[in-house]
Amino acid sequence: MTDKKLGGAGLRGQIAGQTALCTVGKTGSGLTYCGYDIADLAENTVFEEVAYLITKGGELPNQSQLDEYSSKLKTLRGLPDALKTVLENIPADAHPMDVMRTGCSFLGNLETEKDFFEQDHHIDRLLAVLPSMICYWYKYSHESVKIETETDDDSIGAHFLHMLSGEKPAELFEKVMHVSLVLYAEHEFNASTFTARVCASTLSDIHSCISGAIGTLRGPLHGGANEAAMALIEKFNGPDHAEEEVLGMLGRKEKIMGFGHAVYRESDPRNVIIKKWSKQLSDFVEDQKLYAISERCEEVMWREKKLFCNADFFHASTYHFMGIPTKLFTPIFVMSRLTGWAAHVKEQRGNNRIIRPSAEYAGPDARTVVPIQERS
Ligand code: COA
Repeated sequence: MTDKKLGGAGLRGQIAGQTALCTVGKTGSGLTYCGYDIADLAENTVFEEVAYLITKGGELPNQSQLDEYSSKLKTLRGLPDALKTVLENIPADAHPMDVMRTGCSFLGNLETEKDFFEQDHHIDRLLAVLPSMICYWYKYSHESVKIETETDDDSIGAHFLHMLSGEKPAELFEKVMHVSLVLYAEHEFNASTFTARVCASTLSDIHSCISGAIGTLRGPLHGGANEAAMALIEKFNGPDHAEEEVLGMLGRKEKIMGFGHAVYRESDPRNVIIKKWSKQLSDFVEDQKLYAISERCEEVMWREKKLFCNADFFHASTYHFMGIPTKLFTPIFVMSRLTGWAAHVKEQRGNNRIIRPSAEYAGPDARTVVPIQERS
């Protein structure tokens, strides 16, 4: 009620700080990282180049810088024994985002950031080790297998798929993982990034900033939407069934996860890119049904509500076609968005003042305490 007067509920449209990392809904196709359009990056870079761009000062690496960076990340994939023990004690029915949050936080006890001069090392370490963490827990808790997390795969996406399936992934799968991780890497002052910045503004450590961001991303209105979209589309037996059910949901004013956006108004520039790869994968794995269902949902939502797919909707079928269990969809988002969070933490630290907004008071008028025995 009162915050509508202050410019809209949920702080919509409020400028809450400056960033040199990203624009959303402004130039190019609608999303840029450090001046590069997302379509250009998704087409012409691998994820490690984008991770370098975002976390190491805003320039793309040259070949030798990329080689050195990728090699360093490969050496940082191992899990300390104490962390393996913690992961082995988390039950199979735990929420995978809770596993990541706990894993990140626990690592902060083992490898504490004692000085901000160490921040780049801790960021590299988290980027390399988060996929190991989630896969180790998943394979141990679901299949009783203690996997080797130090694979020789060149990329983070291939490393992740390799740990899950036990085999080196197909070239197409590795390419799609690059695209997906690039698309999710950074998104300005979204809820989880803002959480990381608020935490950083108190001069807290990097593991606290990232653990808080993971907790924020966990919610279905933010990162959890790709899993919710999968749960929806896999219920349908074909496009006509999907149309009928989606119309019913809209009639009951239910939300369809993977549609709409807080900033974009007509389309999410990431959708057109991931949708193309979802189609390619559907041909590759010879599964046309899920893609056709997804397309029909997209048509119905636009026709009925002028609501468009955000990045999450076609990610659901994309990940499914690569054999990734649905419960690991949001953790992949973490593996990627870590770069954006970390870069914002660095940016906040570089020009810091504690973030402390004010509230408009909407409570009772001033009053005095009535002695307890006289209260009704
Ligand atoms: N399904 C059905 N209706 C939706 C919808 C969806 N996915 N997204 C928005 N709407 C409706 C809202 O309920 C609202 O209706 P109302 O005016 O009758 O209340 C209207 O469309 C306008 O909503 P808007 O102001 O654009 O949304 P928001 O900024 O408050 O919220 C999201 C943005 C992303 C949280 C919202 O679109 C949503 O919940 N989407 C589903 C979750 C999701 O995919 N999240 C990932 C985001 S990347």
